[in-house]
Amino acid sequence: MNPRYSRITGTGSYLPQRRVTNQNLTDDLAARGVATSDQWIVERTGIHARHFAAPEEKTSDLGLHAARQALAMAGRQAQEIDLIIFATSTPDMVFPSTACILQDKLGANGCPAFDVQAVCSGFVYALTVADAMIRSGSARRALVVGAEIFSRILDFNDRTTCVLFGDGAGAVVLEASDEPGILASELHADGKYVDILCVPGGVAGGEVVGNPLLQMDGQAVFKLAVGVLEKTARATLDKAGLQDADIDWLIPHQANIRIMQGTAKKLKLPLDKLVVTVDQHGNTSAASIPLALDNAVRAGQVQKGQHVLLEGVGGGFTWGAVLLKM
Ligand code: ACO
Repeated sequence: MNPRYSRITGTGSYLPQRRVTNQNLTDDLAARGVATSDQWIVERTGIHARHFAAPEEKTSDLGLHAARQALAMAGRQAQEIDLIIFATSTPDMVFPSTACILQDKLGANGCPAFDVQAVCSGFVYALTVADAMIRSGSARRALVVGAEIFSRILDFNDRTTCVLFGDGAGAVVLEASDEPGILASELHADGKYVDILCVPGGVAGGEVVGNPLLQMDGQAVFKLAVGVLEKTARATLDKAGLQDADIDWLIPHQANIRIMQGTAKKLKLPLDKLVVTVDQHGNTSAASIPLALDNAVRAGQVQKGQHVLLEGVGGGFTWGAVLLKM
């Protein structure tokens, strides 16, 4: 018989060693003739610092550190994993997938491994797919990773975007269980908004064609994000038969403190139920939710038996939520 649920049994995360404060970034940008300030960044976004990967680090390396921590917490060996899903928009290579590269680094060779590309919603997409595969009986123990090196696709001459993002990784081990774990999820996309947040360049004939750096209409993204996050949260709660007040922790994609606090207020959640890491990590895209989850677990905030709502929103335009019992 197929298991009724999948449950998170371990979490892990990793931040590259190099921490870049707003002041560090402001000084670096000033040398290029790009004006910004700690005050502007903090007031508009809540970000104080982010981490940037070293030149030799790859997205799979960041994912590997996070995956090893998650496996250790779950008490599992890599060889016991029978599914790897890797959420990223900054893969090591065009192909093969970063999931395959990670699989080899872990020594978990043989199990299915693939990437999910849904930008900042990537982790909730990947977790939902892993949950469905576990409940259908096609996997029993999945490793779900979100990792990004956005610093490599930022235009450091564009102050409206380069101050927002950072690098990092988070991971969870998700296992078949008869105890409640993932209770409900919702995924959405609307491709008519491709242009408001994208990296439009590609590779053709051995050349980069088009702009290979991130471009964003920040205000359009902001308005869409605020609208969809409340709606998706309510739809996910409805599916699980729960109310706003049943949420112990809200862990939204960490893009901007104003979007996150706005969502918490709409859900009538006190702000101390909101897990915030954007201040120290910046926006790490697909890594932001598992990084924040792992931080909250290791800080003793998120505890077994509590209801946690994860919410992603990002390029595509994509959005979604996963409601789970830890
Ligand atoms: N430093 C100083 N001034 C700046 C900077 C900067 N880094 N960036 C922009 N400004 C200036 C602008 O030029 C503008 O000046 P002007 O009034 O003279 O024209 C002024 O600040 C205000 O700019 P706005 O764009 O109106 O600022 P806003 O309050 O909208 O904040 C921000 C911009 C932070 C980008 C906001 O719109 C936002 O957070 N949007 C959502 C972004 C987001 O969540 N993105 C991630 C989605 S996830 C994914 O999929 C990757």
